[in-house]
Amino acid sequence: MNIEIKQIAFGGTEHKKEIELRHKILRQPLGLQYTQEQLDSEKDEFHFAAFEGDKLVGCLLMKAIDNKEMKMRQVAVDEDYQGKGVGKALVLFSEKFATEKGFSLITLHARKTAAPFYEKLGYKIVGNEFTEVTLSHFKMKKERPFV
Ligand SMILES: CC(C)(COP(=O)(O)OP(=O)(O)OC[C@H]1O[C@@H](n2cnc3c(N)ncnc32)[C@H](O)[C@@H]1OP(=O)(O)O)[C@@H](O)C(=O)NCCC(=O)NCCS
Repeated sequence: MNIEIKQIAFGGTEHKKEIELRHKILRQPLGLQYTQEQLDSEKDEFHFAAFEGDKLVGCLLMKAIDNKEMKMRQVAVDEDYQGKGVGKALVLFSEKFATEKGFSLITLHARKTAAPFYEKLGYKIVGNEFTEVTLSHFKMKKERPFV
């Protein structure tokens, strides 16, 4: 498996593949859909994707909240590629990016089922469990140095 991680542009072919993967992994199983308004609001976010050749197999978004905090969002890996290090590689790539851009805090809303994945990568739970898109979540955070 030869996986390449890179930042992708908003609005192009790769972005379209990213939305398809997010729909398949993060929304379809819940019977939910993204609205055009939600997708449009991601124009100023940073979009990262993992590719095997031309196939987009994972993605991760980062949203700058202020000049210190980045929110990590929409982490998804295609089923056949889960458990092979793709999610970890995406997180490490985005952490390097956040470091280079001068951010000092990364926050995220982890699905309860994915919280152990982030814990392994050094993220800590803050606060109580809450519900988002019908699922139990925890807010998690990691401070610089990330990597
Ligand atoms: C959660 C997800 C992003 C993880 O990506 P992945 O590529 O499958 O994970 P990796 O192979 O990089 O795993 C890295 C480590 O975390 C562990 N891990 C991964 N997912 C885990 C989970 N759900 N629970 C516990 N541990 C997990 C792996 O075993 C691995 O451990 P190791 O370093 O000791 O070998 C991916 O499985 C996924 O897309 N799941 C469905 C959607 C989802 O829940 N997204 C997150 C929303 S917050």
